[in-house]
Amino acid sequence: MDTFDLREGETANVGSLRELKAQAEHCKRCDLYKHATQTVFGEGPMQAEIILIGEQPGDKEDLAGRPFVGPAGAVLNESLSRAGIDRERCYITNTVKHFKFTQRGKRRLHSKPNAGEIRQCAWWLRSELKLIEPKIIVALGATAAGYLVGKAVRITKDRGTIFRPQNLPPVLVTIHPSYILRMRDRHTANAEQIKFVHDLNRLKEVLDQGRVGAAKSDIDRRNNHEPLHRMNCSANLFRSWRHARSRRNESNGSWKTQNEVHGQSQNCLARDTGQSEDPHEHEAAVAVLAISEARAL
Ligand code: URA
Repeated sequence: MDTFDLREGETANVGSLRELKAQAEHCKRCDLYKHATQTVFGEGPMQAEIILIGEQPGDKEDLAGRPFVGPAGAVLNESLSRAGIDRERCYITNTVKHFKFTQRGKRRLHSKPNAGEIRQCAWWLRSELKLIEPKIIVALGATAAGYLVGKAVRITKDRGTIFRPQNLPPVLVTIHPSYILRMRDRHTANAEQIKFVHDLNRLKEVLDQGRVGAAKSDIDRRNNHEPLHRMNCSANLFRSWRHARSRRNESNGSWKTQNEVHGQSQNCLARDTGQSEDPHEHEAAVAVLAISEARAL
């Protein structure tokens, strides 16, 4: 599959997202329209600084005609809110705008779009990007990431990385929220969601750049993105730690103080943040990791 190039290829000749969406309703650029209920176009303001790009609409999205309104959308909403990002201020769309599925009895099972379908649908994505001119793109999962950044991208290795392709705004690569839904148990899912929020926190680095009236300390931090990234993560994950602590308090009344947890962090971290069996301990470990990193700045 080719890599997406914003400079190449034509775009729709329209001046607004509303007009673009109206055109997309009649899209027959590939055969997917034949079985889907409707085009599921992107939604959000034209002034959005952030565009989030998934793979393709799912069953619920196909019926509702809106992106990310099903179970994956719920995970996305919660994660954005935990990262302090307002969904209403983002533009949310998909690489492919029609639901592709195989029918199994009454169920419609998601089926991956192929390279030809993705290439045909790039017409819409290119037009969306040209109208919106976002400051940063979030590639949710392998389909969007591979297409935007290149085939060599690996979600496990590259998640949380901001790529700077020449032909596009910066692209933050992360998991697709449906990955969290596929986790075998709630604890692992919680841990994965924390990592997802951690990835989303990186958005602030790019958005903070060039803000008028930014404090001097922000400007100083901006000169070195990595510490700023850690600071942002630590603030959010500290909230996760507090949340985990209050849940533990509710369930059995015992919880360590922040200092005790911090003292134990080496044990937790030695097991690696993803390995702990205890979700509370895991969340604390991730939070403590971030706190320790921020302190070490
Ligand atoms: N998965 C996607 O990639 N997009 C949606 O809109 C819903 C689920």
